[in-house]
Amino acid sequence: MLKRSILIQLDTDIHPSVFDRVVAVDAGVDEVFSYGGVTPEKLQPAVHGAIFTRGPADLCRTAIFIGGNDVAKAEELLVEAKKHMIPAFGLEVSLMLDANGCNTTASAAVRSVEKHISGPGHRAMVLGGTGPVGQRAALLLAQGGFEVFLASRSLERSLAVVQAVGKMTQNPAKIHGIAPNSTAQWLEALQGVQVVISTGAAGICLLPKAIWQAAHDIRVLVDLNAVPPLGIEGVTVLDNGADREGRISYGALGVGGLKMRLHRKAIQTLFESNKAILDAKSIHSIGVS
Ligand SMILES: NC(=O)c1ccc[n+]([C@@H]2O[C@H](COP(=O)([O-])OP(=O)(O)OC[C@H]3O[C@@H](n4cnc5c(N)ncnc54)[C@H](OP(=O)(O)O)[C@@H]3O)[C@@H](O)[C@H]2O)c1
Repeated sequence: MLKRSILIQLDTDIHPSVFDRVVAVDAGVDEVFSYGGVTPEKLQPAVHGAIFTRGPADLCRTAIFIGGNDVAKAEELLVEAKKHMIPAFGLEVSLMLDANGCNTTASAAVRSVEKHISGPGHRAMVLGGTGPVGQRAALLLAQGGFEVFLASRSLERSLAVVQAVGKMTQNPAKIHGIAPNSTAQWLEALQGVQVVISTGAAGICLLPKAIWQAAHDIRVLVDLNAVPPLGIEGVTVLDNGADREGRISYGALGVGGLKMRLHRKAIQTLFESNKAILDAKSIHSIGVS
């Protein structure tokens, strides 16, 4: 008899994310066990509880989801969780990291772009690119063949992130750090850029309309900030391929529908084997309609 599917939700926040729990149920998971305030030191019993309770043949019915607002802490949990699996004996379960929605959101943004323009021969700029979502968007754009410009308020931060992201791509020379701080510098940086994805903090406008109107090469604008003032002035939250003065436009809620489908599909993918490790790159390779 097919065992009930169990998702073990390990969250770095004290209160495990209600959002992630609801998505798990909507993805068809039978049972969600939620734990908050999880630290690497507390992880071993949770992983052992997952891998030692069902035989190897049934471990595809158990999986672990790692979440929480602090993406760096969640990444530490992922590294630690892998250490406690025993693959030599078939004792492992699938793992997914989507802390603060970083991987599914970045993937949905890049997929929205790729509906209209493919990477090779094209340039993309990621605004607020030093945050968790921006870093992943930059990585996925680079993987897709775009030449990527990662913008920050600080050139030092931007270059540090570019170095880290570059190590994960096949062509690190195609990712550049920038920190424009005047209209003239923005317009110069946007020359030849066809795609802009804004991944800045909520409630911060990073790209005024007057600048993108004057940047004639831009074809696609994506803004992931849903809190006014929005990240790209003139793009609205509900835009989902809208025409904004000749540019194709996506807002946070427009991208959100795809993000939700992707999140649900990723959860379902966890239960197709007991070996999946779903991070930014692997989530981006999941097919969704
Ligand atoms: N739709 C969804 O499902 C979903 C899911 C997750 C996130 N989001 C949204 O996606 C966006 C990115 O998320 P995130 O967690 O990666 O963002 P974040 O870490 O909060 O911020 C991203 C970057 O914004 C810049 N920034 C911060 N404060 C700023 C300020 N006062 N002025 C100018 N720039 C500032 C910083 O870059 P520098 O300091 O290097 O300039 C920071 O690294 C957010 O708007 C978030 O709400 C949407």
